[in-house]
Amino acid sequence: MPTLFDPVKAGALSLSNRIVMAPLTRNRSPNAVPKPVTATYYAQRASAGLLITEATAISHQGQGYADVPGLYAPEQLEGWRRVTDAVHEAGGCIVTQLWHVGRISHTSLQPGGGAPVAPSAIRAKAKTYLVSSDGTGSFADTSEPRALGIDEIPGIVADYRRAARAAVDAGFDGVEIHAANGYLIDQFLRAGSNVRTDAYGGTIENRARLLQEVVAAVTEEIGAQRTGIRISPVTPANDAADDQPQALFDYVVRVLARYELAYVHVIEGATGGARDHQQGDRPFDYAVLREAYAAAGGKGAWMVNNGYDGATAEETVASGKADLVAFGKPFIANPDLVERLREGGPFNVPDKTTFYGGGEHGYVDYPTLEDARRA
Ligand SMILES: Cc1cc2nc3c(=O)[nH]c(=O)nc-3n(C[C@H](O)[C@H](O)[C@H](O)COP(=O)(O)O)c2cc1C
Repeated sequence: MPTLFDPVKAGALSLSNRIVMAPLTRNRSPNAVPKPVTATYYAQRASAGLLITEATAISHQGQGYADVPGLYAPEQLEGWRRVTDAVHEAGGCIVTQLWHVGRISHTSLQPGGGAPVAPSAIRAKAKTYLVSSDGTGSFADTSEPRALGIDEIPGIVADYRRAARAAVDAGFDGVEIHAANGYLIDQFLRAGSNVRTDAYGGTIENRARLLQEVVAAVTEEIGAQRTGIRISPVTPANDAADDQPQALFDYVVRVLARYELAYVHVIEGATGGARDHQQGDRPFDYAVLREAYAAAGGKGAWMVNNGYDGATAEETVASGKADLVAFGKPFIANPDLVERLREGGPFNVPDKTTFYGGGEHGYVDYPTLEDARRA
Protein backbone atom coordinates (compact mmCIF):
# COMPACT_ATOMS: atom_id res chain seq x y z
CA MET A 1 0.00 0.00 0.00
CA PRO A 2 1.52 3.34 -0.97
CA THR A 3 1.84 6.01 1.70
CA LEU A 4 1.91 9.78 1.39
CA PHE A 5 5.64 9.66 1.99
CA ASP A 6 6.61 7.28 -0.82
CA PRO A 7 8.29 8.63 -3.93
CA VAL A 8 6.34 8.61 -7.17
CA LYS A 9 6.74 9.57 -10.81
CA ALA A 10 4.34 12.00 -12.46
CA GLY A 11 5.30 11.90 -16.12
CA ALA A 12 8.89 13.13 -16.30
CA LEU A 13 8.71 14.56 -12.76
CA SER A 14 10.36 12.48 -10.02
CA LEU A 15 8.68 13.37 -6.76
CA SER A 16 10.17 12.50 -3.37
CA ASN A 17 6.68 12.11 -1.82
CA ARG A 18 2.99 12.46 -2.73
CA ILE A 19 2.38 15.71 -0.90
CA VAL A 20 1.91 18.69 -3.23
CA MET A 21 1.80 22.40 -2.47
CA ALA A 22 -1.34 23.68 -4.23
CA PRO A 23 -1.16 26.92 -6.23
CA LEU A 24 -1.64 29.91 -3.90
CA THR A 25 -1.90 33.51 -5.07
CA ARG A 26 -0.16 35.81 -2.59
CA ASN A 27 -0.12 39.20 -4.37
CA ARG A 28 3.44 40.02 -3.43
CA SER A 29 4.93 40.62 -6.88
CA PRO A 30 4.66 44.36 -7.68
CA ASN A 31 4.92 45.02 -11.43
CA ALA A 32 4.33 41.29 -11.90
CA VAL A 33 7.95 40.54 -10.91
CA PRO A 34 8.64 37.89 -8.21
CA LYS A 35 10.89 39.41 -5.55
CA PRO A 36 13.86 37.68 -3.87
CA VAL A 37 11.67 36.89 -0.84
CA THR A 38 9.48 34.75 -3.09
CA ALA A 39 12.50 32.48 -3.67
CA THR A 40 12.82 32.13 0.11
CA TYR A 41 9.09 31.34 0.45
CA TYR A 42 9.13 28.50 -2.09
CA ALA A 43 12.53 27.12 -0.99
CA GLN A 44 11.20 26.90 2.60
CA ARG A 45 8.49 24.55 1.26
CA ALA A 46 10.76 22.47 -1.01
CA SER A 47 10.28 19.25 0.98
CA ALA A 48 6.90 18.90 -0.75
CA GLY A 49 7.02 16.26 -3.47
CA LEU A 50 5.91 18.98 -5.87
CA LEU A 51 5.45 22.74 -5.58
CA ILE A 52 2.91 24.40 -7.86
CA THR A 53 3.43 28.14 -7.99
CA GLU A 54 0.74 30.70 -7.53
CA ALA A 55 -1.21 31.36 -10.74
CA THR A 56 1.05 33.30 -13.11
CA ALA A 57 -0.18 35.39 -16.03
CA ILE A 58 0.80 34.26 -19.52
CA SER A 59 0.28 37.77 -20.92
CA HIS A 60 -0.65 41.28 -19.84
CA GLN A 61 -4.18 40.56 -21.08
CA GLY A 62 -4.22 37.49 -18.81
CA GLN A 63 -3.75 39.65 -15.67
CA GLY A 64 -6.65 40.08 -13.30
CA TYR A 65 -5.34 41.06 -9.88
CA ALA A 66 -2.84 43.52 -8.45
CA ASP A 67 0.70 42.34 -7.75
CA VAL A 68 0.42 38.85 -9.21
CA PRO A 69 3.41 37.60 -11.20
CA GLY A 70 3.79 37.07 -14.94
CA LEU A 71 5.78 35.00 -17.41
CA TYR A 72 5.86 37.44 -20.30
CA ALA A 73 8.64 39.96 -19.56
CA PRO A 74 12.39 39.43 -19.02
CA GLU A 75 12.42 40.85 -15.47
CA GLN A 76 9.57 38.47 -14.49
CA LEU A 77 11.53 35.51 -15.83
CA GLU A 78 14.68 36.63 -14.01
CA GLY A 79 12.61 36.73 -10.81
CA TRP A 80 11.38 33.19 -11.47
CA ARG A 81 14.94 32.00 -12.20
CA ARG A 82 15.86 32.98 -8.62
CA VAL A 83 12.91 30.91 -7.39
CA THR A 84 13.65 27.77 -9.43
CA ASP A 85 17.35 27.90 -8.50
CA ALA A 86 16.53 28.20 -4.80
CA VAL A 87 14.00 25.36 -4.91
CA HIS A 88 16.33 23.04 -6.80
CA GLU A 89 19.17 23.83 -4.42
CA ALA A 90 16.85 22.79 -1.59
CA GLY A 91 16.11 19.50 -3.42
CA GLY A 92 12.59 20.39 -4.59
CA CYS A 93 10.60 20.05 -7.81
CA ILE A 94 8.53 23.01 -9.07
CA VAL A 95 6.05 23.74 -11.83
CA THR A 96 4.31 27.04 -12.56
CA GLN A 97 0.59 27.53 -13.02
CA LEU A 98 -0.21 29.11 -16.42
CA TRP A 99 -3.02 31.64 -16.00
CA HIS A 100 -5.29 33.70 -18.17
CA VAL A 101 -8.08 35.21 -16.06
CA GLY A 102 -10.44 36.04 -18.93
CA ARG A 103 -13.34 38.09 -17.56
CA ILE A 104 -12.10 38.06 -13.94
CA SER A 105 -10.22 41.31 -14.38
CA HIS A 106 -10.55 45.05 -14.24
CA THR A 107 -9.94 47.67 -16.90
CA SER A 108 -7.22 49.24 -14.72
CA LEU A 109 -5.17 46.03 -15.08
CA GLN A 110 -5.66 45.58 -18.84
CA PRO A 111 -3.44 46.79 -21.69
CA GLY A 112 -4.53 50.33 -22.59
CA GLY A 113 -7.27 50.23 -19.94
CA GLY A 114 -9.40 48.05 -22.25
CA ALA A 115 -12.19 45.64 -21.37
CA PRO A 116 -11.18 42.17 -20.14
CA VAL A 117 -11.79 39.40 -22.67
CA ALA A 118 -14.17 36.45 -22.30
CA PRO A 119 -15.94 33.79 -24.35
CA SER A 120 -19.08 35.95 -24.20
CA ALA A 121 -19.85 39.47 -23.04
CA ILE A 122 -21.31 38.32 -19.72
CA ARG A 123 -20.08 40.08 -16.62
CA ALA A 124 -19.10 37.81 -13.72
CA LYS A 125 -20.62 38.41 -10.33
CA ALA A 126 -17.16 38.32 -8.81
CA LYS A 127 -14.51 40.52 -7.26
CA THR A 128 -10.92 41.22 -8.11
CA TYR A 129 -8.22 42.70 -5.90
CA LEU A 130 -6.70 46.09 -6.67
CA VAL A 131 -3.99 48.19 -5.07
CA SER A 132 -4.25 51.98 -5.24
CA SER A 133 -1.30 54.34 -5.79
CA ASP A 134 -0.86 54.81 -2.02
CA GLY A 135 -0.41 51.03 -1.65
CA THR A 136 -3.72 50.17 -0.02
CA GLY A 137 -5.45 47.06 -1.32
CA SER A 138 -9.18 46.54 -1.81
CA PHE A 139 -11.63 44.23 -3.55
CA ALA A 140 -13.52 45.62 -6.58
CA ASP A 141 -16.20 44.31 -8.94
CA THR A 142 -14.82 42.76 -12.12
CA SER A 143 -15.33 44.88 -15.26
CA GLU A 144 -17.74 44.24 -18.11
CA PRO A 145 -15.87 41.94 -20.55
CA ARG A 146 -15.96 41.84 -24.33
CA ALA A 147 -16.39 38.60 -26.29
CA LEU A 148 -13.23 37.35 -28.00
CA GLY A 149 -13.32 37.35 -31.78
CA ILE A 150 -12.66 33.91 -33.24
CA ASP A 151 -9.60 35.38 -34.98
CA GLU A 152 -8.11 36.30 -31.57
CA ILE A 153 -8.11 32.77 -30.17
CA PRO A 154 -4.97 31.52 -31.96
CA GLY A 155 -3.06 34.42 -30.39
CA ILE A 156 -4.16 33.34 -26.91
CA VAL A 157 -3.13 29.74 -27.59
CA ALA A 158 0.23 31.09 -28.79
CA ASP A 159 0.57 33.02 -25.51
CA TYR A 160 0.14 29.77 -23.55
CA ARG A 161 2.77 28.11 -25.72
CA ARG A 162 5.20 31.00 -25.33
CA ALA A 163 4.69 31.12 -21.56
CA ALA A 164 5.30 27.36 -21.24
CA ARG A 165 8.57 27.71 -23.15
CA ALA A 166 9.58 30.72 -21.06
CA ALA A 167 8.80 28.80 -17.87
CA VAL A 168 11.03 25.89 -18.80
CA ASP A 169 13.77 28.30 -19.89
CA ALA A 170 13.48 29.94 -16.44
CA GLY A 171 14.20 26.58 -14.81
CA PHE A 172 10.74 25.20 -14.03
CA ASP A 173 10.41 21.41 -14.14
CA GLY A 174 7.11 21.81 -15.96
CA VAL A 175 3.83 23.69 -16.00
CA GLU A 176 0.27 23.29 -14.77
CA ILE A 177 -2.41 24.64 -17.13
CA HIS A 178 -4.96 26.48 -14.99
CA ALA A 179 -8.33 25.30 -16.33
CA ALA A 180 -10.11 25.72 -12.97
CA ASN A 181 -11.86 28.25 -10.75
CA GLY A 182 -13.78 30.23 -13.34
CA TYR A 183 -10.83 31.65 -15.29
CA LEU A 184 -10.57 31.82 -19.09
CA ILE A 185 -10.41 28.11 -19.99
CA ASP A 186 -13.12 27.27 -17.44
CA GLN A 187 -15.23 30.19 -18.76
CA PHE A 188 -15.16 28.53 -22.18
CA LEU A 189 -16.02 25.12 -20.69
CA ARG A 190 -19.05 26.15 -18.65
CA ALA A 191 -22.34 27.01 -20.29
CA GLY A 192 -23.07 29.79 -17.79
CA SER A 193 -20.24 31.94 -19.20
CA ASN A 194 -20.15 30.67 -22.81
CA VAL A 195 -23.08 31.40 -25.13
CA ARG A 196 -21.01 31.52 -28.33
CA THR A 197 -22.52 30.20 -31.51
CA ASP A 198 -19.25 29.46 -33.31
CA ALA A 199 -16.84 26.48 -33.06
CA TYR A 200 -15.98 27.44 -29.43
CA GLY A 201 -19.52 27.43 -28.02
CA GLY A 202 -22.69 25.38 -27.85
CA THR A 203 -21.85 21.68 -27.63
CA ILE A 204 -19.53 20.27 -24.98
CA GLU A 205 -17.04 19.44 -27.74
CA ASN A 206 -17.01 23.06 -28.87
CA ARG A 207 -16.75 24.48 -25.35
CA ALA A 208 -13.74 22.20 -24.70
CA ARG A 209 -12.00 23.29 -27.91
CA LEU A 210 -9.91 26.06 -26.33
CA LEU A 211 -8.74 23.69 -23.58
CA GLN A 212 -7.77 21.12 -26.16
CA GLU A 213 -5.89 23.63 -28.30
CA VAL A 214 -3.99 24.93 -25.28
CA VAL A 215 -3.07 21.42 -24.13
CA ALA A 216 -1.95 20.51 -27.66
CA ALA A 217 0.22 23.64 -27.97
CA VAL A 218 1.82 23.42 -24.52
CA THR A 219 2.54 19.69 -24.75
CA GLU A 220 4.01 20.09 -28.21
CA GLU A 221 6.22 22.90 -26.93
CA ILE A 222 7.61 21.41 -23.69
CA GLY A 223 6.44 17.77 -23.69
CA ALA A 224 3.30 16.24 -22.23
CA GLN A 225 5.35 14.55 -19.52
CA ARG A 226 6.14 17.96 -18.07
CA THR A 227 2.58 19.26 -18.36
CA GLY A 228 -0.18 18.98 -15.77
CA ILE A 229 -3.64 20.51 -15.73
CA ARG A 230 -6.03 21.69 -13.01
CA ILE A 231 -9.83 21.42 -13.26
CA SER A 232 -12.65 22.19 -10.81
CA PRO A 233 -15.80 20.48 -12.14
CA VAL A 234 -18.36 22.00 -9.77
CA THR A 235 -16.81 24.99 -8.09
CA PRO A 236 -18.92 28.14 -8.21
CA ALA A 237 -15.77 30.28 -7.77
CA ASN A 238 -15.79 33.42 -9.91
CA ASP A 239 -19.42 32.84 -10.94
CA ALA A 240 -18.59 29.59 -12.77
CA ALA A 241 -21.73 27.59 -13.57
CA ASP A 242 -22.83 24.64 -15.64
CA ASP A 243 -25.81 22.41 -15.03
CA GLN A 244 -24.27 19.26 -16.55
CA PRO A 245 -20.83 19.12 -14.99
CA GLN A 246 -20.51 15.30 -15.08
CA ALA A 247 -21.06 15.06 -18.84
CA LEU A 248 -18.82 18.06 -19.45
CA PHE A 249 -15.87 16.94 -17.35
CA ASP A 250 -16.12 13.25 -18.29
CA TYR A 251 -15.63 14.52 -21.84
CA VAL A 252 -12.79 16.85 -20.78
CA VAL A 253 -10.80 14.02 -19.16
CA ARG A 254 -11.34 11.83 -22.22
CA VAL A 255 -9.74 14.60 -24.27
CA LEU A 256 -6.90 14.86 -21.74
CA ALA A 257 -6.33 11.09 -21.96
CA ARG A 258 -5.05 11.57 -25.53
CA TYR A 259 -1.97 13.30 -24.13
CA GLU A 260 0.56 11.58 -21.87
CA LEU A 261 0.24 14.28 -19.25
CA ALA A 262 2.29 14.30 -16.05
CA TYR A 263 -0.87 14.69 -13.99
CA VAL A 264 -4.52 15.70 -13.80
CA HIS A 265 -5.32 17.86 -10.75
CA VAL A 266 -8.95 17.84 -9.60
CA ILE A 267 -10.47 20.23 -7.07
CA GLU A 268 -13.28 18.27 -5.43
CA GLY A 269 -16.29 20.42 -4.52
CA ALA A 270 -16.29 24.20 -4.08
CA THR A 271 -12.72 25.48 -4.01
CA GLY A 272 -11.95 26.28 -0.38
CA GLY A 273 -15.50 25.26 0.57
CA ALA A 274 -17.83 22.27 0.77
CA ARG A 275 -16.41 19.09 -0.73
CA ASP A 276 -19.94 17.90 -1.57
CA HIS A 277 -20.94 21.13 -3.32
CA GLN A 278 -23.34 20.31 -6.14
CA GLN A 279 -24.04 21.92 -9.52
CA GLY A 280 -26.73 20.40 -11.72
CA ASP A 281 -29.30 17.86 -10.59
CA ARG A 282 -27.09 15.23 -8.98
CA PRO A 283 -23.92 14.95 -6.91
CA PHE A 284 -20.70 14.90 -8.91
CA ASP A 285 -19.04 11.48 -8.96
CA TYR A 286 -15.25 11.85 -8.91
CA ALA A 287 -14.70 8.08 -9.16
CA VAL A 288 -16.64 8.09 -12.43
CA LEU A 289 -14.46 10.98 -13.62
CA ARG A 290 -11.31 9.03 -12.92
CA GLU A 291 -12.73 5.90 -14.56
CA ALA A 292 -13.56 7.93 -17.67
CA TYR A 293 -9.94 9.10 -17.81
CA ALA A 294 -8.50 5.61 -17.30
CA ALA A 295 -10.95 3.97 -19.72
CA ALA A 296 -9.84 6.44 -22.40
CA GLY A 297 -6.20 5.40 -21.81
CA GLY A 298 -5.17 8.29 -19.54
CA LYS A 299 -1.87 7.54 -17.82
CA GLY A 300 -1.15 10.72 -15.87
CA ALA A 301 -0.95 10.77 -12.08
CA TRP A 302 -4.27 11.65 -10.40
CA MET A 303 -4.00 14.58 -8.01
CA VAL A 304 -6.79 15.67 -5.68
CA ASN A 305 -7.31 18.77 -3.55
CA ASN A 306 -9.70 20.59 -1.25
CA GLY A 307 -9.92 20.33 2.49
CA TYR A 308 -7.61 17.35 2.97
CA ASP A 309 -5.86 16.71 6.25
CA GLY A 310 -3.25 14.10 7.13
CA ALA A 311 -5.76 11.31 7.80
CA THR A 312 -7.94 11.84 4.72
CA ALA A 313 -4.90 12.30 2.49
CA GLU A 314 -3.27 9.13 3.83
CA GLU A 315 -6.46 7.12 3.27
CA THR A 316 -6.86 8.52 -0.25
CA VAL A 317 -3.35 7.52 -1.31
CA ALA A 318 -3.41 4.16 0.49
CA SER A 319 -6.71 3.16 -1.12
CA GLY A 320 -5.48 4.19 -4.57
CA LYS A 321 -8.19 6.85 -5.01
CA ALA A 322 -5.43 9.28 -5.94
CA ASP A 323 -1.68 9.28 -6.48
CA LEU A 324 -1.05 12.77 -5.12
CA VAL A 325 -2.77 15.10 -2.66
CA ALA A 326 -2.40 18.88 -2.89
CA PHE A 327 -2.63 21.05 0.22
CA GLY A 328 -3.31 24.79 0.00
CA LYS A 329 -3.85 26.68 3.26
CA PRO A 330 -1.87 24.15 5.32
CA PHE A 331 1.21 24.98 3.20
CA ILE A 332 0.79 28.72 3.74
CA ALA A 333 1.21 28.25 7.48
CA ASN A 334 3.51 25.21 7.61
CA PRO A 335 6.67 25.43 5.51
CA ASP A 336 7.65 21.97 6.82
CA LEU A 337 4.19 20.49 6.24
CA VAL A 338 5.66 17.17 5.08
CA GLU A 339 7.50 16.67 8.34
CA ARG A 340 4.50 17.77 10.38
CA LEU A 341 2.24 15.30 8.52
CA ARG A 342 4.78 12.57 9.18
CA GLU A 343 4.80 13.39 12.88
CA GLY A 344 1.04 13.88 13.07
CA GLY A 345 1.34 17.62 13.90
CA PRO A 346 1.15 20.06 15.52
CA PHE A 347 0.17 22.48 12.74
CA ASN A 348 0.41 26.27 12.63
CA VAL A 349 -2.89 28.01 11.89
CA PRO A 350 -2.95 30.14 8.71
CA ASP A 351 -3.56 33.86 9.23
CA LYS A 352 -6.14 34.95 6.63
CA THR A 353 -5.30 38.61 7.03
CA THR A 354 -1.90 38.05 5.38
CA PHE A 355 -3.00 35.75 2.52
CA TYR A 356 -3.22 38.44 -0.16
CA GLY A 357 -0.62 41.19 -0.32
CA GLY A 358 1.74 42.52 2.31
CA GLY A 359 5.36 41.77 3.06
CA GLU A 360 7.35 39.07 4.79
CA HIS A 361 4.96 38.70 7.72
CA GLY A 362 2.59 35.79 7.09
CA TYR A 363 4.75 34.81 4.12
CA VAL A 364 8.20 33.62 5.20
CA ASP A 365 7.97 33.86 9.01
CA TYR A 366 5.83 30.83 9.92
CA PRO A 367 8.01 28.67 12.19
CA THR A 368 9.07 25.13 11.39
CA LEU A 369 8.90 22.45 14.08
CA GLU A 370 12.62 22.90 14.50
CA ASP A 371 12.24 26.68 14.98
CA ALA A 372 9.55 26.01 17.58
CA ARG A 373 11.76 23.54 19.47
CA ARG A 374 14.67 25.97 19.48
CA ALA A 375 12.53 28.87 20.73
C1 LIG B 1 -4.71 32.46 -0.50
C2 LIG B 1 -5.18 31.51 -1.56
C3 LIG B 1 -4.75 31.69 -2.86
C4 LIG B 1 -5.12 30.78 -3.87
N1 LIG B 1 -4.62 30.92 -5.14
C5 LIG B 1 -4.87 29.99 -6.08
C6 LIG B 1 -4.24 30.06 -7.35
O1 LIG B 1 -3.42 30.95 -7.62
N2 LIG B 1 -4.56 29.09 -8.26
C7 LIG B 1 -5.45 28.09 -7.99
O2 LIG B 1 -5.70 27.24 -8.86
N3 LIG B 1 -6.03 27.99 -6.77
C8 LIG B 1 -5.75 28.90 -5.82
N4 LIG B 1 -6.29 28.75 -4.56
C9 LIG B 1 -7.04 27.52 -4.21
C10 LIG B 1 -6.10 26.51 -3.57
O3 LIG B 1 -5.13 26.05 -4.50
C11 LIG B 1 -6.87 25.28 -3.04
O4 LIG B 1 -7.61 24.74 -4.09
C12 LIG B 1 -7.79 25.63 -1.88
O5 LIG B 1 -7.12 26.41 -0.89
C13 LIG B 1 -8.35 24.35 -1.22
O6 LIG B 1 -7.30 23.56 -0.70
P1 LIG B 1 -6.99 23.51 0.89
O7 LIG B 1 -8.28 23.10 1.54
O8 LIG B 1 -5.89 22.50 1.05
O9 LIG B 1 -6.58 24.90 1.30
C14 LIG B 1 -5.97 29.68 -3.55
C15 LIG B 1 -6.43 29.54 -2.23
C16 LIG B 1 -6.05 30.42 -1.24
C17 LIG B 1 -6.51 30.21 0.18
